[in-house]
Amino acid sequence: MVKPAEIFEANIPRPLGELREAQAFAPSNIALSKYWGKRDAGLNLPLNSSLSISLGSWGTETTIRPSEQDTLIFNGTKMASDTAAAAKIWRFVDLFCGVGRPALAIETSNNIPTAAGLASSASGFAALTLALNAAFACNLSKPTMSMLARFGSGSATRSFWQGFVRWDAGDAPDGSDSFATPLEVDFPSFRIAILTVDSGPKSHSSTDGMTHTVRSSPLFENWPDKANADCAEIERHIRNGNFVAIGELAEANALAMHATMMAARPAVCYLKPETWSILQDLWRARQDGLVAYATMDAGPNVKLVFEESTASDVLNVFPNAQMINPFEGSSV
Ligand code: ADP
Ligand code: DP6
Repeated sequence: MVKPAEIFEANIPRPLGELREAQAFAPSNIALSKYWGKRDAGLNLPLNSSLSISLGSWGTETTIRPSEQDTLIFNGTKMASDTAAAAKIWRFVDLFCGVGRPALAIETSNNIPTAAGLASSASGFAALTLALNAAFACNLSKPTMSMLARFGSGSATRSFWQGFVRWDAGDAPDGSDSFATPLEVDFPSFRIAILTVDSGPKSHSSTDGMTHTVRSSPLFENWPDKANADCAEIERHIRNGNFVAIGELAEANALAMHATMMAARPAVCYLKPETWSILQDLWRARQDGLVAYATMDAGPNVKLVFEESTASDVLNVFPNAQMINPFEGSSV
């Protein structure tokens, strides 16, 4: 069985270049067709492909500097290495750098809530990979970085590009074909709104939630094939510019994912009463003609997708919506 360290050794030129200060930003992303379930936990390989939209300037900024000793500043606070989040970060740094690495100071900040289902793990591990690549002058390609960032968090594979990005599940046992690719489709009218229900951290990480769902949900067996089909269909509608079909499928895909979790034994439910109340308001508004659709990840917050021409109608129904233009200033 291949070990994660062997994959890093095979893809990162050794010895590493001399450590220099480097800074990197990566956007978060919201999956329109979700990743839920692993076929190999050790190599963090997914059971199904997924497709996301990146969040423009919402994401993570990470700086790496030479230091006398390892230090981690996470969202402005020094974080001890025995906390779960720090341990994940240092494990990834050790994999990336191999044995005998120099001490590092890492400073990372999310301008999105951390661990609230707004994909901080995606932008966090993509920004860390980009910063390590620059700090050690590795000159890795984005597909290689996407493949390696998977070992930090699966959704991080999709955070190396703006716009629509597809993460192919792949079928190689060593995961060498499991990385993301940008669709390179411009969709300037596409908009996202974040409806924050709770920005505090969730009780179960996505990793734990999906592992438990795969093990115990009687509905899960139907998920991987349907999710792969949704992913392919959404991509086709993106390429044809069919917004309504994208939105309908994205909402159905998210609800199907949550249904698999709620059928787990015991149930995994990230959605809160306010999430359901937002969904009821949305569905009522849709009957009155609002063309907007919802998606939710491993947290209670709702993300809406709609087109620019609908933005003021969305604000009428949801005055607290935080608007994101994912294609602003980007030539995908
Ligand atoms: P989210 O919905 O925010 O992605 P997850 O539970 O999936 O929530 O992931 C949260 C975890 O992601 C954190 O506990 C931490 O391990 C990791 N993470 C978040 N932000 C960063 C960051 N800036 N750098 C590295 N890892 C991060
Ligand atoms: C619901 O990428 O956080 O947001 O690979 O275990 O770190 P790990 O999981 P993670 O899971 C994301 C799940 C999701 C759907 C998605 O982003 O595709």
